[in-house]
Amino acid sequence: MIGIFDSGVGGLTVVKAILDKIPEYDIVYFGDTAHTPYGTKSAETVVGYTINNIKFLLSQGAKVIVIACNTASSVATTQVLEQFALPIFEVITPAVTQAVEASANLNFGIIGTRATISSGIYERKILAHRPTARIHSVACPLLVPLVEEGWLKKRETAMIVKKYLQPLKTRQIDTLILGCTHYPLLKNVIQAKIGKRVELIDSSICIAEGIQHFLENQRDIEQQLRQTGRLSLFVSDVTDQFKKIAQLTLKTNISFECVKI
Ligand code: DGL
Repeated sequence: MIGIFDSGVGGLTVVKAILDKIPEYDIVYFGDTAHTPYGTKSAETVVGYTINNIKFLLSQGAKVIVIACNTASSVATTQVLEQFALPIFEVITPAVTQAVEASANLNFGIIGTRATISSGIYERKILAHRPTARIHSVACPLLVPLVEEGWLKKRETAMIVKKYLQPLKTRQIDTLILGCTHYPLLKNVIQAKIGKRVELIDSSICIAEGIQHFLENQRDIEQQLRQTGRLSLFVSDVTDQFKKIAQLTLKTNISFECVKI
């Protein structure tokens, strides 16, 4: 079983990308809807949520963990890698790898939650690969609540996206990292506002490719994963919106269970 978590619906973009690539593996997903958003909380709080989420996924039989949340990946990866002895994947490294390959001018934009942007992790990782890169980061704290609310196609959402992206447009970036797993749900409006010449890097697709590659090369772990294609979804609080957005993201009817962890 592959265990995947996020603060809410955003990580379902990662589930969808994994299902598209390797549909045969069982997946257990936990959306921590009782605590969303993570991006406005302190690192200490997010580390605590991350540890609890991983423990829950382990109790469900997960053998591999995917932190399908840039915020948790930014602030909690080091600690959980020390604490848990199983493969744990974060979403930032694969997105950076793809971005540095994609960019011709090494002029990068990054959008993410406040916690992700203020951690500076994307800048550090990009500069480690490309020391001459120019990097412009913008925190977009309103986007996660808009996605969780299902305001994907509203005019107001498009106006807010435009406002956030304005400084990146001015700096003529050529590659934009969607540094939050909620943002692929706003991909169309983001592409429209930043312009079609800018390449969008979707961390959900990058991590799915990373997991596929890992499983192809780690047959011993791969054989421990059940392969019936079963998807189990858990949330820490039931909201009508979760069901609606989850169905839209996974493009199928879903049922989920509420758990207090
Ligand atoms: N989707 C998450 C991320 O990638 C969480 C955002 C939030 O809860 O603020 O950062």
